Amino acid sequence: MATTMSVRARVEKEVESESVAATQAWGAALAGQLEPGDVIALQGDLGAGKTNFAQGLARGLSITEDVNSPTFILANEYSGGRLPLYHIDAYRLENADEARGFGLDDYLNGDGVTVVEWAERVRDALPQDTLWIEFKYLGENERRLTFRASGVRGVKILEGLEHAARD
Ligand SMILES: Nc1ncnc2c1ncn2[C@@H]1O[C@H](COP(=O)(O)OP(=O)(O)OP(=O)(O)O)[C@@H](O)[C@H]1O
Ligand SMILES: [Mg+2]
Repeated sequence: MATTMSVRARVEKEVESESVAATQAWGAALAGQLEPGDVIALQGDLGAGKTNFAQGLARGLSITEDVNSPTFILANEYSGGRLPLYHIDAYRLENADEARGFGLDDYLNGDGVTVVEWAERVRDALPQDTLWIEFKYLGENERRLTFRASGVRGVKILEGLEHAARD
């Protein structure tokens, strides 16, 4: 009997942050591992720390502009860093079709890194090889960040982050 096995890399990493600065530092550290086309999906409740993380990521790409929540305009594009950064907030999108309608694919296929807040709302519009980060509120200043990779690129990013954290 023939058996079909699909082997899929899957890696998880959990860290705790005790300050805004620590959350931003994780974003900056992640930025060091990123390449054009990488997609980072952020999920978690209101005020969980997604925008703070994106700010750190921008800093890690040497972007000097202020990164704010793009809630009202859906997407902001930052150039001038090591790589362009596309910061998207899917809070106001209902589903993957709306995300595609708004032009999400142009960002995903662009030359930069795409970071999506409220990514779970548009999950089906994101590539399989997306690095997911879940933010959980633990206390006033404490958050848990769970990184989940389920593709070759995501796993590579997480391994790189692991090495960088050890150095
Ligand atoms: N350890 C921490 N990491 C990140 N933010 C923290 C932390 N401790 C406290 N905070 C506070 O939590 C809030 C996080 O706000 P932020 O805008 O990053 O959340 P968000 O997940 O983007 O929310 P939204 O869904 O509204 O976009 C800020 O007010 C920040 O000061
Ligand atoms: Mg936000």
